[in-house]
Amino acid sequence: MTYQETFNTAKNHPETFWKKQAEALEWFIPPQKILSQDEYGIDHWFADGEMNTAYMALDYHVDNGRADQTALIYDSPVSDTKKKYSYRELRDEVALCAGMLKELGVVKGDRVIIYMPMIPEAVIGMLACARLGAIHSVVFGGFAAQELAHRIDDATPKLVLCATYGLEINRRIEYKPLLDKALEIASHAPKHCVIFQRDSATINFNPTDIDWQEAISQAQAVDCTPVKGSDLLYILYTSGTTGKPKGVVRENGSHAVAMKYSMKAIYDMNPGDVFWAASDIGWVVGHSYIVYAPLLQGCTTILYEGKPILTPDAGAFWRVVEEYNIKALFTAPTAFRAIKKEDPDAQLAKQYDLSSLETLFSAGERLDPPTHNWLSENFKLPVIDHWWQTETGWAISANLRGIEKMPVKIGSAGVPCPGYTIEIFDDTETNCKTLAANTHGNIAIKLPLPPSCLTTIWGDTPRFKADYLETYPGYYVSGDGGYIDDDGYLFVMGRTDDVINIAGHRLSTGEMEEIIGKHEAVAECAVVGRNDDLKGQMPVGFVVLKNGVIAPEQQIIDELIQLVRDEIGAVASFKEAYIVSRLPKTRSGKILRKTIRHIFNGEAFTMPSTIEDPTSLKEIENLTEYLS
Ligand code: COA
Ligand code: AMP
Repeated sequence: MTYQETFNTAKNHPETFWKKQAEALEWFIPPQKILSQDEYGIDHWFADGEMNTAYMALDYHVDNGRADQTALIYDSPVSDTKKKYSYRELRDEVALCAGMLKELGVVKGDRVIIYMPMIPEAVIGMLACARLGAIHSVVFGGFAAQELAHRIDDATPKLVLCATYGLEINRRIEYKPLLDKALEIASHAPKHCVIFQRDSATINFNPTDIDWQEAISQAQAVDCTPVKGSDLLYILYTSGTTGKPKGVVRENGSHAVAMKYSMKAIYDMNPGDVFWAASDIGWVVGHSYIVYAPLLQGCTTILYEGKPILTPDAGAFWRVVEEYNIKALFTAPTAFRAIKKEDPDAQLAKQYDLSSLETLFSAGERLDPPTHNWLSENFKLPVIDHWWQTETGWAISANLRGIEKMPVKIGSAGVPCPGYTIEIFDDTETNCKTLAANTHGNIAIKLPLPPSCLTTIWGDTPRFKADYLETYPGYYVSGDGGYIDDDGYLFVMGRTDDVINIAGHRLSTGEMEEIIGKHEAVAECAVVGRNDDLKGQMPVGFVVLKNGVIAPEQQIIDELIQLVRDEIGAVASFKEAYIVSRLPKTRSGKILRKTIRHIFNGEAFTMPSTIEDPTSLKEIENLTEYLS
C-alpha cells in the first residue's frame, strides 16, 4: 500500500487498522475491545487485552529463535566499557532484577523511580518493572534534587533505583547525594532506595538503602505478570508552562503496538537490524527507541554513554556506526550541529566505513535547513526530520520509510503518520477555525489519538483535559505552531507556549521564572528563548529588581543563575540574565514575552495593539543593539 492508502485506511477504519497492527504482537489474551472510552470520555486502545511488555520485548524472542542474537550493546566511551547482551542474557538479567524488586515488595501497579545514568542496569530496571507490571518513572540525570523531589512526591514510588554516579565529559555527577537531598526535600518516603555501585569506592548507605549487587546476588528470577492493555507501563515527566512537571502516562498495550508498528513503518527496521537512537533514557526518545521499540521488533539496540563530540572527538558517532553496523541513526539536531561545528568538512566521518547506514533521523526540535543540507551533502543519505512529543511517544509526522519513500522537503517534518489527522487552527481564541494550506496556526490532532498517546496526566485528569482537550473540542492541541503546505507536508515552526527546547531538552520558561521570582531582590521577571547556533535555544532572563536593592547587579545575576542550576539542574543551561527597569506588558498586565523574544533575537515584530506603554520596548531594543 502507498502512504496515502495506508493513511486513509487508518483514518477511515481506525479499529480495523490498529487491530491488525496489534496482531503482530504476542498477547496472552488478544484484546476484544479495540477502542473504548472511560468515564471521562477519554479513549483507550486495547484496554481488555492481557499481555506483558517485557514478555513481548524479550521472552517472545528468546522462545522464537532470537535467544542468541544481540539485543543490547552498551558502548561507553566515558567509562571505557563495552558490553553485549543477547536476548537470552538480557531476559535473564531482567527476570533476576524483577525478582529483586519483588523481594523488596514491588507489586503490579507500584511506582518505581529510576534515577540512573546510561548504564545497562537502568534499562534492566525499566524492563524489570515492566515484567512485574510495576510502573517506572525514569528521571533524567541532568535534573537537580528539587526536580527529583517533585517527581518523588507526585509518583509516590515504593522504590527508587539509583546508581552512585554518572559521567559527563571530564566530570562525575554524584547521583547518590542528589538522591539523598531530594529525599530530604520530598514529603513522600519510598520504602527503599536500591543503589548500584559503579565501582568499589565507599559510599554512605542510609538505613533504608539497599546495595543493588548484594540484593541481586540473592534474588530469584521471576516470570512475567500479566497486565491489561490499559494498565500503565510508565510515567514520564515533561515540562509544561508552570513549575509543576506533567506526568505523561503510557499504557502497556497501545504503547507496544505503536512501538512495533513504527519500527517498520517509519524507520524501515526489520528484526535483526541494528538501530541506534543517540539520546538518553531520561527522555521519551530513549524510552521508545533505545529501550522498547527496537526490542519489540527483535532488533539490536545501542545504549551509548557518551556525547557526539569530545568523547573523544566528533567522529564518535561514526565510530559507533561502523563498529556495530548501524542501519538507522536517530538523534537531535543539536548533536548534528555539534559534530558539524567540530568537523565542518566531515573529515572524521570519512575515516569510518558507514556503508551499513541507510537513513539519518532527527527529532527533538526542527532540523534547521543548513544542518539538513550539511548532512545530505556529506553523507549522501536520506535525512528525515520527524516531529513528536513526550505526550505521543512516537512520531506524529514523518517520512515513513517503511511504507513509501516519499520525497524529502527540507524544513518540513514530513507528512502525518497513519492514525494522526492533523489540522491547523486559527490562534485567536475567539475564532477556532481550521486554516487553509500554507497558513500558520496552532497544530491540533483530531481525536481519537492513535495508540501510545497519553490518556491522562498522572493523578490529574482535569489538567489533562484543560491543557490538551478543551481548546478545540474534539481535538488534542499540541502546543506547537506551524502550517501544512499544498502537498500535505507539515512544517513545525516552534512552541506556541512558554516551553523552550534547549539542546533537544524540553524546559519550561515559566518554571525558571518561578524560581527567579523567589530571590529576595526580584520584583518580577520574564524568561524567553534566545536563538542559539548549537543548542537551538538558550534561556535569557529579564529581571526587574525591587526598589531599594543595594546588592551589585552582577552579584544578583550570579545568584539567579546558581538558583536555577540548583533547582532545575545544569540541563536548564540558564547562564544569561539582564536587569531591566521594567518589562513590556499589555494593559491587562500580561508580560509580552513573545515580543521580547522577537526583539532580542533581532526578528521582525509588530507592536502589540494592547501594549500598555510602547516605550517599554525601547530598553530591550537598546540592550539587544548594545549586545550585538
Ligand atoms: N547528567 C548530568 N548532567 C548532565 C546530563 C546528565 N545526563 N546531561 C547533560 N548534563 C549537564 C551537562 O554536563 C552540562 O553541564 P554544564 O553546564 O556544567 O556544562 C549541562 O547539563 C547542559 O548540557 P547540554 O545541554 O547537553 O550541553 P553540553 O554542552 O554538555 O553538550 C551537546 C552539548 C550538543 C553535545 C549535547 O547537548 C548533546 O549531545 N545533545 C544531544 C541531545 C539529545 O540527545 N537530546 C534528546 C532528545 S532526542
Ligand atoms: P519532548 O516532549 O521533550 O519530546 O519535546 C517535544 C517538543 O519538541 C515538541 O512539542 C516540539 O516543540 C519539539 N519538537 C520535537 N521534534 C520536532 C521536530 N521534528 N520539529 C519541530 N519541533 C520538534
